[in-house]
Amino acid sequence: MFNETRWWRSATIYQVYPRSFADGNGDGVGDLAGIRAHLPYLRDLGVDAIWFSPWYPSPMADAGYDVADYRDIDPAFGTLTEAATLIEEAHTLDLRIIIDVVPNHCSDAHPWFREALAAGSGSAARDLFWFRDGRGEDGELPPNNWMSIFGGPAWTRVADGQWYLHLFAPEQPDFNWANPKVREEFEDILRFWFDRGVDGVRIDSAALCMKDPALLDFDPDAPTAPATLAEPGSAAQPHPYSDRDETHEIYRDWRRVADSYDPPRVLIGEIWLPDTERFIQYLRPDELHTAFNFDFLAAPWDATSFHTTIDATLAAHAPVSAPATWVLSNHDVFRHVTRYGRADTSFSHDHEHRRRQTGAPTDFALGTRRARAAVLLGLALPGSAYVYQGEELGLGEVEDIPDEQRQDPLFARTNGANPGRDGCRVPLPWSGDASPFGFSPPGAGAPPWLPQPLSWRTLTAEVQKGDPGSMLELYREALRVRHSEPALGDGTMRWLDAPAEVLAFYRGPSFACVLNMSSADVPLPTHDSVLLASGPLVDGLLPPDSAVWLRIP
Ligand code: NOJ
Repeated sequence: MFNETRWWRSATIYQVYPRSFADGNGDGVGDLAGIRAHLPYLRDLGVDAIWFSPWYPSPMADAGYDVADYRDIDPAFGTLTEAATLIEEAHTLDLRIIIDVVPNHCSDAHPWFREALAAGSGSAARDLFWFRDGRGEDGELPPNNWMSIFGGPAWTRVADGQWYLHLFAPEQPDFNWANPKVREEFEDILRFWFDRGVDGVRIDSAALCMKDPALLDFDPDAPTAPATLAEPGSAAQPHPYSDRDETHEIYRDWRRVADSYDPPRVLIGEIWLPDTERFIQYLRPDELHTAFNFDFLAAPWDATSFHTTIDATLAAHAPVSAPATWVLSNHDVFRHVTRYGRADTSFSHDHEHRRRQTGAPTDFALGTRRARAAVLLGLALPGSAYVYQGEELGLGEVEDIPDEQRQDPLFARTNGANPGRDGCRVPLPWSGDASPFGFSPPGAGAPPWLPQPLSWRTLTAEVQKGDPGSMLELYREALRVRHSEPALGDGTMRWLDAPAEVLAFYRGPSFACVLNMSSADVPLPTHDSVLLASGPLVDGLLPPDSAVWLRIP
């Protein structure tokens, strides 16, 4: 089966969002039975590993990122026994398994939090979280001015008058990582899953765990400095809850746990940081193995941005010998087919940006052309790559979900100002020409938990399979070539001279990738053959918004 321990340096990892992948039992919500039935699809797609967004018991206040029990499976998805079977079946198909671990916060239904509520002020149970008295005469004001990332204050008051901290929704209380019991608990959770054959973990909100215990007010618009590096008297204030130096101790401990297994397990960080120097610290050899490259994901579709981001990524990773990753989409961002078909092709979490972008005019054909080119670029660059479920079908963002069906807390907590992330989480279309498009079995008792657009009937896996011009077949072929081409995956690259707004680079002695981001057809470098093209060449020229893989002499 698996004999390569450094697989993660070159792997293509497919993200399954369990609620929306496939529904085996007909309740309109995806589940493990649905996933198991489609494992051969993923094997045939050619990915190396599957990352599951949280599958734990959860009240689903944040789609499973509010975990009530880290050692079980949500009954809506299946059982622990079924998860064990799934892991085994996936391994038999040469697919590794990565699960999501959420260390910054749990669910308010987690037994520790319930105990903390019952135990009262000053108790050991409350010290596992951030409970504080409020300000104001009667403690009626939150302990400080921190705002939740989902909107509204980051504090919620409980019946006895104390407040607790939640950087996300009120249903997601933040753990106090200064408490050794929290550390022990998470190392034990890692062992629980590693013992069950899980090959690695994706660490949610990895840079947020540590807080400045002073809990001082914070001005998010003032310049910030890395948590412990602010010069006294400088205008920059240290960040009280993001990227604090103490965070690294957590991941050094986790790395020891991961390395104690044979083969060693892999740690992947979800780290959104503007400062690349700080970001890369998490990838030092005794910390995490890799982290998502959000700079690449967020980059607007233009040659300078792409070139700069690629150079900056590779330069940053080199000193720590960590592989870069290439990510175009995930369950938190606008699907890139839609993004690339708009006037503003960038991505930002900023509420205002998301609001402005929602419903902006979209040239879907253009977005699709660019998405086809982008995947050839990402899969040719050195390192590992991610595929978010549905991108291999060329799905766009669904933007006409009725308000009453939206479930993302971002939508509710911003009073609809931010439409939220439901539009990239709509259940996948597998087959047929009407909803549920094979997502649920025939005669299902409930419709898919989010409505699927009728236009997806031309994008089902069934329609695309075997159609050489389809997005699905492009992904399959690209992954097939990636596997057979020793130059791809981990390694180095070298830029080639190219016309303006064209990116061209060598991988190894005989492979080159060319991406045309200009508005003119461009000639290709000397080559023996075209291995794969994102679209047809015109008289041997590469048209705009297209990419090609070449065998070169
Ligand atoms: C990042 C996850 O990707 C996102 O979906 C979630 O809402 C937050 N972390 C909070 O867990």
